[in-house]
Amino acid sequence: MATRKIVIQGDELLTKKCRPVTEFNPRLHQLLDDMADTLEEAQGAGLAAPQVGILRRAVLVIDDDDKVMELINPEILLQEGEQTGPEGCLSVPGKFGMVTRPNHVRVRAQDRYGNWFEAEGEGLVARCFCHEIEHLDGHLYTEHIDRFLTDEELEAYYREQGYEMPDGEDEAE
Ligand code: NI
Repeated sequence: MATRKIVIQGDELLTKKCRPVTEFNPRLHQLLDDMADTLEEAQGAGLAAPQVGILRRAVLVIDDDDKVMELINPEILLQEGEQTGPEGCLSVPGKFGMVTRPNHVRVRAQDRYGNWFEAEGEGLVARCFCHEIEHLDGHLYTEHIDRFLTDEELEAYYREQGYEMPDGEDEAE
């Protein structure tokens, strides 16, 4: 298990446009493996390469079966519907804000060997696709919010939805 340090908001690395991945080599595979370890340790829902200081277009998204999806050079092909809910980010620890996103998203990406594939997501996975892909262009979810949620607001939201309150950063992306 090799984790990497997560870059925190305020660091210029999070504002840069990332370059495409062009070499699908062992170095990329090591990066992806380290990102997966980092994501697991942080208990996040997704992670983008710039969040570990690498300015390349690679992201991880946890799918509905709790498996790690690797998306290299991802592009959004289709977005439909709308959802509004609390969103967090491992680079903005302990904070959440209400963000409206499409409810259904289809993406195209390459796997770690360079093969193109398409993937679809609803709800949290769709939200995560959008959030992580924005990281690759130097954007954070905080650009979509006026303010952070208070703990009371976050608890009230989860109670309304009938969810268990996440402990710590479970829902952070
Ligand atoms: Ni994030």
